[in-house]
Amino acid sequence: AASLNHVTSQLQTLGISDLPKPKGINLYPQLNPVDVYRSIIIDKLHEITGAEVPIIDNAVQWTQDLKHGDLVLPVPALRLKGKKPDELALEIAEKFDSPLLEKPTADKTFVRFFFKPEPLAKLVIPAIHRLKSNFGWNSNLGLEDPSNPNSRRKKVIVEYSSPNIAKEFHTGHLRSTIIGGFLIKLYQRAGWETVSMNYLGDWGKQYGVLSEGFEKYGNEESLLKDPVKHLNDVYVKINRDNSEEQKPVKAITEKKEELEKKKNPPKPKKPAKGKEAEAPPENKWTDEDEQNLQKINAELEEVQQQLANKPSIDERARRFFKRMVDGDKQALANWQRFRDLSIEAYKEMYARLNIHFEDYSGESTVKEDDMETAAKVLQEKNISEDSKGAVIVDLSKHGHPTLGKTLVKKRDGTSLYLTRDIAANFERYEKYHFDQMIYVIASQQDVHVKQFFTILSLMGAPYSDIVAKCKHISFGMVKDPKGQTMSTRKGTVISLADSLDGVKDYMHDVMRKNQEKYEQVQDPEATADTLAISSIMVQDYSGKMVNGYNFDMAKMTSFEGDTGPYLQYSHARLCSIKRKAIVSEEEMLNADLSLITAKEGVQLIRSLAQWPDVFLNTYKTSEPVTVLTYLFKMTHLLSSCYDAIDRNNKNAKTLSVMYAESPEKKVALMAMYEAARIVLNNGMQLLGLTPVERM
Ligand code: ARG
Repeated sequence: AASLNHVTSQLQTLGISDLPKPKGINLYPQLNPVDVYRSIIIDKLHEITGAEVPIIDNAVQWTQDLKHGDLVLPVPALRLKGKKPDELALEIAEKFDSPLLEKPTADKTFVRFFFKPEPLAKLVIPAIHRLKSNFGWNSNLGLEDPSNPNSRRKKVIVEYSSPNIAKEFHTGHLRSTIIGGFLIKLYQRAGWETVSMNYLGDWGKQYGVLSEGFEKYGNEESLLKDPVKHLNDVYVKINRDNSEEQKPVKAITEKKEELEKKKNPPKPKKPAKGKEAEAPPENKWTDEDEQNLQKINAELEEVQQQLANKPSIDERARRFFKRMVDGDKQALANWQRFRDLSIEAYKEMYARLNIHFEDYSGESTVKEDDMETAAKVLQEKNISEDSKGAVIVDLSKHGHPTLGKTLVKKRDGTSLYLTRDIAANFERYEKYHFDQMIYVIASQQDVHVKQFFTILSLMGAPYSDIVAKCKHISFGMVKDPKGQTMSTRKGTVISLADSLDGVKDYMHDVMRKNQEKYEQVQDPEATADTLAISSIMVQDYSGKMVNGYNFDMAKMTSFEGDTGPYLQYSHARLCSIKRKAIVSEEEMLNADLSLITAKEGVQLIRSLAQWPDVFLNTYKTSEPVTVLTYLFKMTHLLSSCYDAIDRNNKNAKTLSVMYAESPEKKVALMAMYEAARIVLNNGMQLLGLTPVERM
């Protein structure tokens, strides 16, 4: 591993005998070469301007675009009174001097810092080679006190994926799985202790419905073969029966409502300004209408009577679920099997995505006692109220008019999704004592999450303290390639297994087109799977999480454009260069990096130096797109290196390992490309992609 000693001795050869250590901030020059520059810049700025070190540290920013410098200082951010920012910028540029940096440029109120190429290469490339798969991460971030390496590591729970047993594992769950998996990897690399939690939808009346359905349509063989699919089939069938059964009641109810509307017409709307009031409808309530209404009421009563004699599926499901809640062993037996078999099936899919859960919790694991206790608090603090035998919380009475009313207990005493979330929040804290908990839940449930977070904070300690440690990461909807919502009814919902397999077959065909390469791939089936998953994941990461996107197979699997296959291709190409060059680790560590002078190479190295800062920035935003944008920029610079032409000899590719003009140059180039491969590999791993060596 790289140590401070390596950095110090390297700096000595570059004319810096003592790296300054600005006080009151945490810099990590042994992990992040840019922090070498920060140490120097912050120290000098403090000397020149007298501004406080932490303020300078905050002010000095990395740049999105290297043409604006490697680091930049917006002078007003120093918050100094007296001097005009543009004059101070000039003064700083004038007084600043370091063997590692070019003379800074004053650009209006900005000071732009450019790193000298040769020292930068000498600091960055060996650091990458030493740190390897650790380059970029900073495990001090997860410490309770980042300046004290012996302090406690913080703990984060990420709850994600959370599919519903018996219902389809749809693209919304897939998206939650991908984002949650990324967050776990991000926090691990920042040194947090992490817990991956799956909160299964495995409780509620629908499991009564499912049991009813299984009795009628269930089949042992199909259940064992593909539990997720079979349970979903059963569930769809029994729901169809259920709505068939409810049809007569529904038809009569509709007629009744129509007539009642006629009897008591809604008040006419107030006319818009300047417009005349609309004439009220002329429908008069007649004796015939009255007779009809009475007839309908009688009919309805009769139908309902009939249904009551032979309880409906819906009613039977409700009763069945009540038995489950009461702990009836027989009622629970099938449910337990469904749950276990589904988890097994999920685990296989998760493994394909590089994802593992430590905790399979679920709505069923929430204890009745904890829901009772929470209900008592709600009642005692007058947060909840009675409403026709049920219990509700009217959030508009508690300062949240947009959140409206919400049910917390049904008339039959059974709990709801919301109630379970309230109690689960508390139970998780009891179990893990987390410092932070993140819920990765689709934006369709934004209101639900706001409601249960708000209720928890109204409840006071300990609930309010726990929810203060919680965060909702919301994400947009996945639609079909035409931008239409996918729905089970329309048959356009793509199940996880189906979509993974579909994309995989497609990728496999693409690979077969290059017969020569294809024959060298050891396990084409596995590679096709890896590429397919990269395609899906990269598409998912391509925008901010709040934005939705269209699940577009043709686009995501393309080798052109910013796609998963493009990243994989870039990685495989670097692996191929390495295989052919045969240069040892030792040689690369001692490479003469001053030989890399072409501007494309310099740009690439500047970009590689940014990686630890990109990680830091990602840690701040939690957005995977931050990583992805960087990786595409870096790989584009990389591909311009392959084509870079020697200024003096138009026929020579100046950054080609294969055609290097000397053995020393070859080693230097290889050291650079291997550093690029490490950074690309690390970035891909952070995103949960498995980099391939051949494709
Ligand atoms: N099972 C739910 C669904 O599929 C998602 C659960 C989200 N997590 C939570 N704590 N409510 O809609």
